[in-house]
Amino acid sequence: MKFFSPSNKKHLPALIPILFFVLCGFVVTAMVAPGPQEDTIPAGTEVPAMDDFQEIDELPDDTVTTAMDTVTTAMDTVTTALEAVPVSEGPYTRTELRRGERLFKGLVPFASGMHDCSSCHYTSRTDTLNWNPSAYDMARLWSLDESYSIRQKLANPVGMRMVADHAEMTITPQEERELEAYFERLVETGPGELRAIPVNAFIFWGLGLLMALAVVDLLITRKVRARAFHVIIIIIGLVVHMQYAVAESRALGRTQGYEPDQPIKFSHLIHAGENEIDCNYCHTVANFSLSAGIPSNNTCLNCHNVIREGTNSGRFEINKIHQAEASGEAVRWIRIHKLPDHSYFSHAQHVNAGGVACQECHGAVEEMHLIRQTEDLSMGWCLTCHRDTGVDFLDNPYYKIFERLHEDIRAGRIDAVTAAQVGGEDCMKCHY
Ligand code: HEC
Ligand code: HEC
Ligand code: HEC
Ligand code: HEC
Ligand code: HEC
Ligand code: HEC
Repeated sequence: MKFFSPSNKKHLPALIPILFFVLCGFVVTAMVAPGPQEDTIPAGTEVPAMDDFQEIDELPDDTVTTAMDTVTTAMDTVTTALEAVPVSEGPYTRTELRRGERLFKGLVPFASGMHDCSSCHYTSRTDTLNWNPSAYDMARLWSLDESYSIRQKLANPVGMRMVADHAEMTITPQEERELEAYFERLVETGPGELRAIPVNAFIFWGLGLLMALAVVDLLITRKVRARAFHVIIIIIGLVVHMQYAVAESRALGRTQGYEPDQPIKFSHLIHAGENEIDCNYCHTVANFSLSAGIPSNNTCLNCHNVIREGTNSGRFEINKIHQAEASGEAVRWIRIHKLPDHSYFSHAQHVNAGGVACQECHGAVEEMHLIRQTEDLSMGWCLTCHRDTGVDFLDNPYYKIFERLHEDIRAGRIDAVTAAQVGGEDCMKCHY
């Protein structure tokens, strides 16, 4: 094309402003694009108008006064209750908070020397599995347990990791107070969000801007004479935008690739892979029920009453199982695979009757530390497999029943087949 020939330098200056705008576009997108889990109220959300509260005005005055009195009394009670809680440590000063954060992040030295706690105890979420306890996780534990002392933990290490990783790390009572001030802040601010670079947003808005510029130049400014240039940009832009639109609408309500952090850093690679624990040991009901089931604390404790320390995480993660047991609260595992309620799926039908391996639908789980949803669980996915997968009809006990019933009828051993004989008594045919 003529435009790109080296001899044609005339149009190059026109490219400079275009590139400049594209760059600006990228910068603006980066600043505007929300983090993956930002929780803001979308623009246009209806806020109740003051008129909606009018009926309060119509209440007789003394009703309002009485109500206010009740509120005041209630608040007094709360205040008294709060004052009764012993606060031996807090409140912390700003200086303590600032020093605590700096100490933890290795910006100022401890009395015992320079230690960067945050090199292991990460202070914001990571996108790869980090086996060390996060600063937030530790802070939360500290806030829940009144007898928790950072100094004690370091001075009396329990387990190989505590000994090995904190060698020479002693802290003074004042330093402990400062770290506590930082912990208290962490508990308030939460674990922090993972800020991914919004590559797709860059491409989408960048191309959008390029297309807009191409249209403007084509119709108004006419700096670039080669029309083919505008046309190519607009066509490529439209095609890419269409693809985004299709991909986004298909993925609505689907969660392929979902790989959340779980409350305990439980690894399938270590359990089902390295230690070859059978899937059914934990997912006990997969063979005869709709769901596969998630193991209870007790299942974990069968082994972890004895195995108290992990090679990667030390005692911290396994301790969580014991803490859950002590508090009587179940571990709140985050559900990953989930079909909409209007679809019926049975593990027993596939795993037991069909003999389909777990990995066909869930990927190589035994090679994953964190479970990731490998398939999109779309209807098309179910149907494609159903069309392509042969059913073992002759030797499968599930179908053998039909064969036997056929023979029994022909031979006159029975008059008719009842619904119960073809599965009408199986609990899971009727129950979720
Ligand atoms: C080399 C990595 C490393 C560094 C540096 C490090 N830690 Fe740790 N820390 C760990 C690991 C791993 C554990 C979990 C060990 C276990 O539970 O067995 C841990 C556990 C702890 C615990 C106990 C958590 C609990 O509730 O059981 C405390 C408290 C702690 N660290 C404080 C600190 C402080 C304060 C610093 C900085 C002075 C620091 N750590 C620096 C790796 C590190
Ligand atoms: C030692 C117990 C244990 C064993 C063995 C085990 N799992 Fe799990 N599995 C769990 C726990 C606990 C969870 C919930 C936490 C998570 O998602 O990692 C889980 C979650 C899953 C999930 C995701 C569930 C969801 O929320 O959608 C799948 C899929 C799964 N396991 C498949 C397998 C397969 C396949 C095997 C065998 C290769 C296996 N598991 C072996 C304990 C186990
Ligand atoms: C059949 C025995 C068994 C069961 C059941 C079991 N585990 Fe484990 N677990 C192990 C073994 C073996 C290790 C490896 C210990 C090591 O690193 O030396 C381990 C390690 C771990 C670790 C530490 C990993 C590391 O390297 O730091 C965690 C966390 C853990 N298990 C959580 C769980 C949870 C949660 C459950 C219940 C859902 C569970 N385990 C059930 C045997 C079991
Ligand atoms: C034919 C595909 C398929 C096979 C084979 C399969 N699963 Fe699933 N699995 C699914 C689907 C689909 C879901 C989501 C079900 C839902 O939301 O109702 C799921 C959900 C799960 C869950 C989440 C909790 C639950 O029970 O709904 C676990 C755990 C699980 N599967 C483990 C297993 C294990 C272990 C095996 C092998 C014994 C296995 N799966 C075999 C498709 C399959
Ligand atoms: C990896 C292959 C595979 C995938 C993926 C799969 N299935 Fe199946 N499905 C089978 C096989 C094989 C059978 C036959 C099992 C048997 O022998 O009864 C079957 C049987 C069934 C049946 C029972 C049909 C009957 O006999 O009445 C239902 C219902 C079903 N599947 C639903 C689903 C749904 C819903 C999905 C998607 C969420 C799905 N399947 C995904 C392989 C698959
Ligand atoms: C033919 C369908 C069918 C089969 C098979 C079936 N159920 Fe039910 N079941 C129902 C219906 C419908 C209800 C709700 C009506 C009721 O409460 O009686 C129910 C209710 C229940 C209830 C609640 C009872 C109550 O009083 O609220 C339980 C528990 C139950 N079934 C367990 C089972 C078990 C276990 C099996 C397998 C041995 C089974 N069911 C097999 C249809 C079935």
